Amino acid sequence: MNEKFGEIKQEIVDGIKGLQSSKAVYEFKKQFLDNKAGKIGLLMKEMKNIAPEERASFGKSVNDLKEWAQARFAELDETMKSLELERRYAEEKIDVTEPGAEEKSGNLHPITQMRNEIIDVFSGMGFEVVENKEIENDYYNFTALNTPKDHPARDMQDTFYLSPEYLLATQTSAAQIHTMEAKKPPIKILCPGKVFRSDDDATHSPMFHQMEGLVVDKKITLCDLKGMLDEFVQKIYGEGTTTRLRPSYFPFTEPSVEVDVSCFECGGKGCKLCKGTGWIEILGAGIVNRKVLANCGIDPDQYSGLAFGIGLERVTMLKYGINNIKLLFESDIKVLEQIDNN
Ligand code: PHE
Repeated sequence: MNEKFGEIKQEIVDGIKGLQSSKAVYEFKKQFLDNKAGKIGLLMKEMKNIAPEERASFGKSVNDLKEWAQARFAELDETMKSLELERRYAEEKIDVTEPGAEEKSGNLHPITQMRNEIIDVFSGMGFEVVENKEIENDYYNFTALNTPKDHPARDMQDTFYLSPEYLLATQTSAAQIHTMEAKKPPIKILCPGKVFRSDDDATHSPMFHQMEGLVVDKKITLCDLKGMLDEFVQKIYGEGTTTRLRPSYFPFTEPSVEVDVSCFECGGKGCKLCKGTGWIEILGAGIVNRKVLANCGIDPDQYSGLAFGIGLERVTMLKYGINNIKLLFESDIKVLEQIDNN
């Protein structure tokens, strides 16, 4: 019997050497210490074949062997667990000094950036944003804006007609009529929108973006217009930029003005951008024509208004020195990535 004890011990001592993981230790341990099928457990079943006077010492020997084996396996379990932990730490080690992977995030299209910037400036002055319609009828786009059929001013805008009555909006000015019909003064709105004209060259595209501004209240004058536009150009083109108004003509404003901005490239001395004049034309504006107010049921003796129309492509091209409008529509990532104001 003693021989059998020795064999089991030796088997454990030898077997333990090759074990590589906690799982292997667990499986190997089961062969000896499993209550039912383990080799040490089975020794107890031999008890009935042992002479009664030797049973006590036999039982003790089995228990000693069991305790010895349990202690070996417990030790082994400990070492194995700490080895495995070390292995895991080594595998999962993070080098905190390694430079992070650069995360690329897209940016808004320059026109959208400009649109948001302008909205920011004017909402700071209390303007409310109203979206413009892309399809208009002839009345809102022209007639109500004091441009009836056969009016020569219709030639100023090459219109895409969808039917004799409907057309693609040629200007955001129709928003003036929609707003004044729906709401009485005081009115202070900004209307961004897409507009369409049959025009296509380096600085014109058949679809472009405008932003209409309209203020109607008592005693609104050209001074209010100039004050607001000065604030606008300073925010977009920098401190010290100013505007000048030149007489112009639009059927829906009287008087009408063309607004120039002092050249932000040369500070007014004269350069290529301003063609030596020190000024750059940026938008059309004026005092709302009395007839337009009356068309919308607003008494022109009591109220007056100012309106302006900003071409977003034009102000964006000027700000970033873009000389061809196509660059804004081709969506070439290499170009667009260079224009990020945020
Ligand atoms: N609607 C004019 C245009 O598209 C611009 C404008 C708007 C002029 C408002 C005066 C007042 O050319």
